Amino acid sequence: MTALTSSQNDSHLIAAASNRLGDDPIFALHGEAMRRAAEGEDILNATLGVLVEDDSSLCVMPSVFEAFTSVDPARAAAYAPIAGNKEFLEGVIADAFAGDRELGVKSVANATAGGTGALHHSIVNFLEPGQALLTSDFFWSPYRIIADHTRRKVGTFRMFDEERRFNLTALEAGLRKQMDSQGRVLLLLNFPCHNPTGYSLDAFEWQRVVEILNEVSKLGPVAFCLDLAYARYAAPEGAAWVAAVKGLVPQITFLVAWSASKAYAQYGARVGALIAVVQDADQRERVRCALQHSSRGTWSNCNHLGLLAIANLLQDPDLRSQADLDRARLVRLLSERVAAFNGAARSAGLDFPRYEGGFFVTVFTPNARKTAAVCRENGVFVVPLDGGVRIALCATPVAQVARLVKALANGVQVAGEA
Ligand SMILES: Cc1ncc(COP(=O)(O)O)c(C=O)c1O
Repeated sequence: MTALTSSQNDSHLIAAASNRLGDDPIFALHGEAMRRAAEGEDILNATLGVLVEDDSSLCVMPSVFEAFTSVDPARAAAYAPIAGNKEFLEGVIADAFAGDRELGVKSVANATAGGTGALHHSIVNFLEPGQALLTSDFFWSPYRIIADHTRRKVGTFRMFDEERRFNLTALEAGLRKQMDSQGRVLLLLNFPCHNPTGYSLDAFEWQRVVEILNEVSKLGPVAFCLDLAYARYAAPEGAAWVAAVKGLVPQITFLVAWSASKAYAQYGARVGALIAVVQDADQRERVRCALQHSSRGTWSNCNHLGLLAIANLLQDPDLRSQADLDRARLVRLLSERVAAFNGAARSAGLDFPRYEGGFFVTVFTPNARKTAAVCRENGVFVVPLDGGVRIALCATPVAQVARLVKALANGVQVAGEA
């Protein structure tokens, strides 16, 4: 067999595709954790963003499987409408805005392949090729992959100020800079329960974000996409955004990347939607057509079984309340870990932002690679980022939180001395 060569001339791929990272670094770390566990080591694997029970089995919601099995096979086997089924889209809009009619009547929605698909559709429809979206400097790394893959870029602003609060001044400066340099802005924020830091904006921060966006929209077109991936795991105040975004001026397009992956513990079904709140009816229709076109030009139709099952969960009162009960148990499971982490990490003097709920939290450290490497030596796997390590509390049994915090405190200390 011929050895692979890195020379561009004999690459089968175009230049841009010939040096892609095949494996996501998080999955690579997860793979190493699994290998060492299989060899008999006592491993704590806090890398992957899926919620597991305290016995490490994947959390599932029985009501969700009931909804899947109750779908008529003849409907499920057919192609879904490209934009998604009406009952699904209406259900998603009502769910995202907690039934708020004022936002609902100005919304259009389009089914997508998970929240990832919704992010894709935002990026290709609200930025020209070559332009950059704006997000916080801690962000979910696929944002960059989607931007890169669609010939867009990522610009960032500093997420936290000295007090570890959301840096509103940096947000405003970032928005103005982006508007100055490219004449339009797409702001992408992931709240509540931000991945990777766990941060949720409070009501005051939401109000300021809206005021800042309104000011910046006087300078050119602004689209604001809220990535709601983890919203169902937020403390009640996490929903403060619904009231706040009603204050956005009509010129701003407000987008919501909705996902069933975490909300229904149903990562594999790939069900999501992009909602766009557009005040002007003609513009709203244009957005609807543009999103449908993007679906046709990517995956075409979504998973019909998934759309119909999730539509049932959203619309059928019995299934909906069963799902709410199933989810409430999962939220409690995670909340116990969050409380245990907050207590132990504060006592250990770890530096981390306000954390009220969500799959992840980030611990700041002067040398994240070193901190993660030291943790790994002790069998604890966390993900190094620029400026911190990401911890998947969603994958950490409550009884292991003390071990996790001890390993982190040691890792941060060694990194500081290195
Ligand atoms: C911040 C964030 N946004 C969006 C997603 C999209 O998930 P999915 O495509 O499974 O809906 C994820 C998944 O991990 C995420 O962490």
